[in-house]
Amino acid sequence: VTGNVYLVGFMGAGKTTVGRLLAEVLRRKFVDMDELLEARLGEPIPEVFRGRGEEFFRGREAALLKKLARRQRLVVAAGGGAVERAENSTLMRRSGRIVHLAADLEVCRTRVAAQGPGLRPMWSDAESVQRLFERRQAAYDDCDLRLCADGLGPREAAREIAARLFGEDRFPVRLGQSECPVICTGEAPRALAELAGGRRVALLTDRRVGRLHLDRFQERLADPLVIIVPGGERIKTLGTAERVYRQLLAGRFNRDDLLVALGGGAVTDLGAFVAGTYKRGLDHVLVSTSLLGCVDAAVGGKAALNLGRTKNAVGCFTVPAGVVLDVAALGTLARRQIREGLVEAYKTGLIGSPSLAELIEEHWPALLAGDRPLLAKVVSLSARTKAEVVAQDFRESGRRFVLNLGHTFGHAVESWHGYRLSHGRAVALGLLVAVRLSLSRGLIEAPLAQRISVTLNRIAGRPVTPPPPEAAWEAIRQDKKIRQGRSVFVLLEGLGRPVLVEDVSPPELAAAVREVC
Ligand SMILES: NC(=O)c1ccc[n+]([C@@H]2O[C@H](COP(=O)([O-])OP(=O)(O)OC[C@H]3O[C@@H](n4cnc5c(N)ncnc54)[C@H](O)[C@@H]3O)[C@@H](O)[C@H]2O)c1
Repeated sequence: VTGNVYLVGFMGAGKTTVGRLLAEVLRRKFVDMDELLEARLGEPIPEVFRGRGEEFFRGREAALLKKLARRQRLVVAAGGGAVERAENSTLMRRSGRIVHLAADLEVCRTRVAAQGPGLRPMWSDAESVQRLFERRQAAYDDCDLRLCADGLGPREAAREIAARLFGEDRFPVRLGQSECPVICTGEAPRALAELAGGRRVALLTDRRVGRLHLDRFQERLADPLVIIVPGGERIKTLGTAERVYRQLLAGRFNRDDLLVALGGGAVTDLGAFVAGTYKRGLDHVLVSTSLLGCVDAAVGGKAALNLGRTKNAVGCFTVPAGVVLDVAALGTLARRQIREGLVEAYKTGLIGSPSLAELIEEHWPALLAGDRPLLAKVVSLSARTKAEVVAQDFRESGRRFVLNLGHTFGHAVESWHGYRLSHGRAVALGLLVAVRLSLSRGLIEAPLAQRISVTLNRIAGRPVTPPPPEAAWEAIRQDKKIRQGRSVFVLLEGLGRPVLVEDVSPPELAAAVREVC
């Protein structure tokens, strides 16, 4: 996922236009080799060909490619002739993936004519261009993806390349006796239409997600009933649920129809709760658009609403007909929202996927900047790991508890701050404390504790003020994470090796908090 994407294709195929848009979609840097070479050589390419010859130009082109191949996560529009040297193709193959942007010769002719053929040194009489076109096709054959963009607009072509290149990850999650497909994809509307299968659909979303993403989904569904709620944590109430029930009733929705919840964790929690209770259970699909939703909230079959200030006080377990993790939607998230999701994904890595934890440790700056292929990888690894844990214990009577790493103290922090603090930052502090407790008990070595703490501080941003020890302990005693009167903490015995402990004492916790802060 960190390699470059090289766009190759004939003159006029649209490499520069599509490449620029592809970089925008993937949130990566774009490099146009011809533009860069012109800038470095100080004159237009046709002048270089005339004055210093094609060989000279090809040499400089190969040297530039060598430099670009040493970098990562670039979208590169390669010069039209770059593929003709075998060493260039080998270099591109080793350092990333090659996309052939194919176009009909007549389309290329029209475009080049419009731009002025004088700008293209290799564009001469019709017969030579035809021969060149045929010769290059053989070199283009050796690519990872071929897209004929003739019938597509440049933006559509860029989206299509992004979706095809970084593919789709599908896997089932076992929820009790049932199974639910999870689809992590850049083409969520198509995946949803497949799951809906022609059924009548009520589409629940919030204002913000509706404004940004509803169109893509409406195009794929036949006249859905759209239900819009305001958004954020305040929608997780019985009052909002009632308003949704009433709209479903007015629309004569029955158990064989489908409710789709499109949005972040608040919308999917509300949607799953309504679906689990309306007429004793309505088929539903969760389409998650936030990173926190994709890595956590949408996977696992839990739905809950808040009761006054008590979070998730009323809830149920439900089995959706499908979960779609919309990685294309992550492009409109703010950095702050990416932080929230990354903390939760890192926690999942720590309890069950060392490769996920390492991916975040290595690539946190690109992830925070919204690099889409990396985010998609984080989403699929997190969701798979959570699915494995949930499959062992759907109703949270045992193994599933390990997902609460960092949450025992994290919830105390949130509660003491009156829930005015972001969940991610509170959990990050909870994780730091859990790591410190693991270290002081000799369960993990100092280098691992140090590595995890450094990563958490980087991804979570500003540190938060911890509650005083007595207040923290009081909040922990009131939380759901109590077994037979004892507070349960999840600690680590190593990367991917969580352990439950019930004997953390108030002084031990206070010491860990002091050391962390
Ligand atoms: N059911 C579970 O197992 C579970 C697990 C973890 C969290 N949760 C719940 O998830 C909720 C938090 O999740 P969240 O932060 O996604 O909630 P959210 O739905 O409130 O989303 C946060 C904000 O992001 C916006 N948003 C969502 N997708 C967007 C996108 N693609 N682009 C721009 N803006 C977008 C929303 O409109 C909202 O304003 C909490 O209520 C929490 O209790 C549930």
